Amino acid sequence: MMELEVSSDTSAYEVAAVLDEAGRLADHCVRQAVAMMDTHGVVVLTGLLSEAEAGAGLDLVHQTVADPDRAHCSFASETDNSYKRRDFCSLPSSPPVKRFAATLCQRLEGVLTEYCGPSRPLLEIATFTSYQGSSHQYVHRDPSGVISMFAAVDDVSDQQGGTVFVPGTHLFGGVGNTHGGKANELMELFRKRCNLRIFRHNLAKLWAMRKDPVTPLAPGEFRDRVFSTKWDQHQPNLLRFLLGKNAQLSLAMLGPLTLWKLWRQGKALDRLFPIVQTAPRKGTVILYRSDLLHAGPDNRSSQPRRIIGMSIARDMIEHKYWHDGYSPHPTLAAEPLTLRDLLDYPVGAEPAGRAAAA
Ligand SMILES: [Fe+2]
Repeated sequence: MMELEVSSDTSAYEVAAVLDEAGRLADHCVRQAVAMMDTHGVVVLTGLLSEAEAGAGLDLVHQTVADPDRAHCSFASETDNSYKRRDFCSLPSSPPVKRFAATLCQRLEGVLTEYCGPSRPLLEIATFTSYQGSSHQYVHRDPSGVISMFAAVDDVSDQQGGTVFVPGTHLFGGVGNTHGGKANELMELFRKRCNLRIFRHNLAKLWAMRKDPVTPLAPGEFRDRVFSTKWDQHQPNLLRFLLGKNAQLSLAMLGPLTLWKLWRQGKALDRLFPIVQTAPRKGTVILYRSDLLHAGPDNRSSQPRRIIGMSIARDMIEHKYWHDGYSPHPTLAAEPLTLRDLLDYPVGAEPAGRAAAA
């Protein structure tokens, strides 16, 4: 893109998971993970899930995507979902799904309870599959006050679209005092710089797809992704960009002074806020503070990218705000689950007659 300058070296944010005799993350790993969450806003826990546990998650993804009645997520990338560029689905509160979620929570109890009280709700558990031809999300913050997890249930390469993060850009008390009291302004300027590049990248890619036999556009897809009036914050939608209808990037955000600052400070911003792209191996789990700058890249390979995401609130959360950023499955909305519920859920032997998930 005038590509985003992205490093694929995530070693500074990784903790190799060691489990204690109870199968939970060992104390020294918990301390490292919390320190990284506080300093960088993200931690990559390698080898947290066994091959079998990650495989159970992969089964959930396959079963969900094959289900014609699956519940598509409503908060992001709807257009990609509708053209089968992505398949973002919320998962029901079935026993296999609860077992997977509980396994994650129990293993990560030491880290999660540092941030989330036991009565805090599970906001969503979802499968995030993306295919070739998807759009690169804009760099954004999710609704604040949430701890989110991505579990790699299969190997994810950078070409498949491992999530990109901007470590250290999470929000906390007094963050505005950092960077000489200019942190908020600089982070927002940097986000615009990234998103201008992503806009151009997505637009150029869509234009090329018109004649690409590998990722042919569906009838109406170009129009829907570039000129639609429909709400979707992660498309290169020129109409909504011009009308100021995209909260991630619009013409109204790019006044002369902003453009001048972007031109003057662009390189310095890149040095100040290095971007890393994750490429998690099967069984790796990424935790991040929801208000950390991040984006789900496009899938540039022919192999689908499959991850399971889960989010838990750190505090009370207003209903509409919750549903603006997360898509709880109707079964979860009808019977909410708390962190305590998941910490208490039996994850041992498979109950007899394991039901098909989702
Ligand atoms: Fe996000």
